[in-house]
Amino acid sequence: MEILFATSNSHKVSEAEGILGPLGHTVLPLLVDGSPLQFVEPQADGIEEVAFSKLEQAMEATSGELGSGTAILVEDSGLFVDSLKGFPGPYSSYVEGTIGLEGVLSLLGGDEHRGAEYRAVAVLGFEGGTLRSQGICRGTISLEPAGTNGFGYDPIFVPDEGDGRTCGEMSPDEKSEVSHRARALKAMSELLNPPSK
Ligand code: IMP
Repeated sequence: MEILFATSNSHKVSEAEGILGPLGHTVLPLLVDGSPLQFVEPQADGIEEVAFSKLEQAMEATSGELGSGTAILVEDSGLFVDSLKGFPGPYSSYVEGTIGLEGVLSLLGGDEHRGAEYRAVAVLGFEGGTLRSQGICRGTISLEPAGTNGFGYDPIFVPDEGDGRTCGEMSPDEKSEVSHRARALKAMSELLNPPSK
């Protein structure tokens, strides 16, 4: 299947290509008039609602152009910090662009309770239906940023299933072993290619 990923984030396209490519799918960025779609993000309480709104917008923007072997993939994700009652959650992108990583670190101060999770919801739209999957990556917020790999909150997010390094210090393959998006996409790949019994 040709999967058009509606995102302007090239990191997300590479992650999806790494997971869905080996299963025989082709992942390409969805371009409309040569550019990635600029979504109007609804002020929603959950990333699921945002993901479905993105799919609706992507479907509208490409109306009539989807063939039977083509699907549109959208994804919404965020960082949910336990002691901040899930903040920034669906506002992760806005918070990253305003108070930034240092701002999130200041909100936590020296708090010992630094548990957090990345969550991702993926939705695939194709002729005649939609498929939805999700992924979670548990971890902790570091005391200070480390590493320059990845994007977003990666320099301050230490996955529980790692070796104590932040996602910003991991290679793309190491991050894909544990990431919320990789999990959501693996779950999606199982919906597309169910494992044989
Ligand atoms: P969106 O899903 O593109 O709207 O992204 C939501 C926000 O969550 C962005 O600000 C990202 O920086 C953050 N985010 C989502 N996934 C990741 C990740 O894998 N690493 C770091 N930040 C992420």
